[in-house]
Amino acid sequence: TSLHTFLAALPKVEHHMHLEGSLEPELLFKLAAKNGITLPVSTDPAFASAESLRKRYENFQNLDDFLSYYYIGMSVLIDETDFEALAYAYFTKASSQNVRHAEVFFDPQAHSRRGVELSTIIKAFRRAQEKAAHDFGITTQLIMCLLRHLPLSEAMETFSQARNEGYYDDGTLAAVGMDSSESPFPPFMWKELYDAAKEFGIRRTIHAGEEGPPLYVAQALELLGVERIDHGVRALTEGDDALVARLASSKTLLTLCPLSNVRLNCINSISSFPLRRLMDAGIRFSINSDDPAYFGGYILENYCALQDEFNLDIGDWETITRGAVLGSWCSEERKAQLL
Ligand code: ADE
Ligand code: ZN
Repeated sequence: TSLHTFLAALPKVEHHMHLEGSLEPELLFKLAAKNGITLPVSTDPAFASAESLRKRYENFQNLDDFLSYYYIGMSVLIDETDFEALAYAYFTKASSQNVRHAEVFFDPQAHSRRGVELSTIIKAFRRAQEKAAHDFGITTQLIMCLLRHLPLSEAMETFSQARNEGYYDDGTLAAVGMDSSESPFPPFMWKELYDAAKEFGIRRTIHAGEEGPPLYVAQALELLGVERIDHGVRALTEGDDALVARLASSKTLLTLCPLSNVRLNCINSISSFPLRRLMDAGIRFSINSDDPAYFGGYILENYCALQDEFNLDIGDWETITRGAVLGSWCSEERKAQLL
């Protein structure tokens, strides 16, 4: 049996998805029209329609090729209603796939450089979070991600702003992370930010070992002191036994994204996803969608792709989802409900 029905009904938690990465081409075009944003169709015919754009998403060459579409796509998000519609659409879709708790990323710097205030985004997301909690019972947390292709000074400024505006103290923001291009920007570059976040007493994560080498995962753990690694897949496909053992013994959660890895050519196909190695090593991990509008599926499609390739049993899935709950950043009370 395929277990797809079981997987659809299984209560899930998601830890690695970028709200801007849930912008479906149809909503992208709708908001572009509403806000008078011109898409670069004269230089890239993929922007002719939602259909042609979706088709183009099937052929990303690498992370940076994807990111160029991701940043253009999110440029249609202007006012509070846009950000609220984006987040509520994701919470609705995730709830329909039985996601009970989601910890989601957003990229404030990608909006502030277009003149969109942090407070606009936060107000919109809070409203979507409250509405989704009421409508579906889903609990959600926001992780602010800073962009690695911008200077450290700008990451520090945005972090300070979020701190000074009280978004960590009032619980609106649950953690800090980093994303965007990886290879030219190793973890050591961001030590000052992660030291400040540690000092401030908040949760810390970083995208590492997606395109970058296993060394970057080790650096993130040792030098930045992160508690979680987003992706980290290359620690398994190319890392040494010591790094794998370290991830297991420290119970570091890896937030893995199999369909994303295939679409961005981080792995050749789902069959190269190191699922057996993860399970045999006893690493704590979760399965996630990353940028579902760009990579051909939400969390359930990621679960099903793994199931079709690796033919897991119900016990395997219970182990995976239990580890995911234990690695969550919600309250102990909420964890107990999710277990
Ligand atoms: N931003 C959105 N998705 C990302 C990914 N998979 N890697 C790095 N930065 C991202
Ligand atoms: Zn990501």
